[in-house]
Amino acid sequence: MSADVLSVTDLEVHYRRRHGRLHALRGVSLSVAPGETVGIIGETGSGKSTLARAVLGLVRPSAGRIVVAGEDITGYSSRQWRTLRRRGVLQYVFQDPLRSLDPDLTIEESLIEPLLIQGRSRTEAVERARAYIARVHLDESLLTRLPGELSGGQRQRVAVARALVTDPALVILDEPVSALDSANRVQALEFLKELRDSGAALVFISHDLGSVAGIADRIAVLYQGEIVEVGTAREVITAPRHAYTRLLVSSAPTLRTADADRARRDALRDLLHI
Ligand SMILES: Nc1ncnc2c1ncn2[C@@H]1O[C@H](COP(=O)(O)OP(=O)(O)OP(=O)(O)O)[C@@H](O)[C@H]1O
Ligand SMILES: [Mg+2]
Repeated sequence: MSADVLSVTDLEVHYRRRHGRLHALRGVSLSVAPGETVGIIGETGSGKSTLARAVLGLVRPSAGRIVVAGEDITGYSSRQWRTLRRRGVLQYVFQDPLRSLDPDLTIEESLIEPLLIQGRSRTEAVERARAYIARVHLDESLLTRLPGELSGGQRQRVAVARALVTDPALVILDEPVSALDSANRVQALEFLKELRDSGAALVFISHDLGSVAGIADRIAVLYQGEIVEVGTAREVITAPRHAYTRLLVSSAPTLRTADADRARRDALRDLLHI
């Protein structure tokens, strides 16, 4: 048994479409150690959300294996999934916080619910809800509001608090800052950095290399359904190997130089096979 909190091996996902099937993930293998933050980057349609959905049991792989915290969840029935979810070991934050939060529950109810399901006492749940609202730098007065009564940035912080409140081993964040405007995004990235020492392992998905670079211990690059490169954040940014990664690095606005422009043109040619 591996000590990794997530281990994905040779994962294949197909989507059924009106005309044939789409091969969305092709032999994807990835591991995440306890407490580690792994960034997953890739262009639109490269399969990032599909990978997240497979790990969360929202899409069924056609081949491969997924092990979360020592449990092989690959063939789990919906009943087994329900039990796993109740334990709160695996959590998620999506791009649109309204999808992670029930619009009819107050913030406090949203935070308490997973704790009660976990079997904690009401007193403990209320205490934890308060502690986590403070932890994501929000005021306790927000606890009585509905998600619709918060700003986008505040909602995303609540979604993060809700994901962490159950002491999960693994949190999947799919484009957690993409819906925020640039000022809010900078703040959100800073505060996500603080959460790295929450003990949970984080899988941080983004199409934006810049967002992931400052947070991830390691970065995996998805390209057309395949992981084409994995390395420490430093390795991937300073010595990208795959043409797509070179294109991303050389296109990052903060890294624009004449050399980067040349590297970008070379990478584009490689990708287009010209
Ligand atoms: N439910 C679905 N049915 C059919 N095809 C799908 C479905 N969901 C995604 N796809 C296709 O699978 C491929 C991968 O999609 P996915 O959502 O994983 O990409 P992504 O990397 O998350 O993109 P983005 O950056 O735009 O969020 C795309 O070609 C997409 O059109
Ligand atoms: Mg996506």
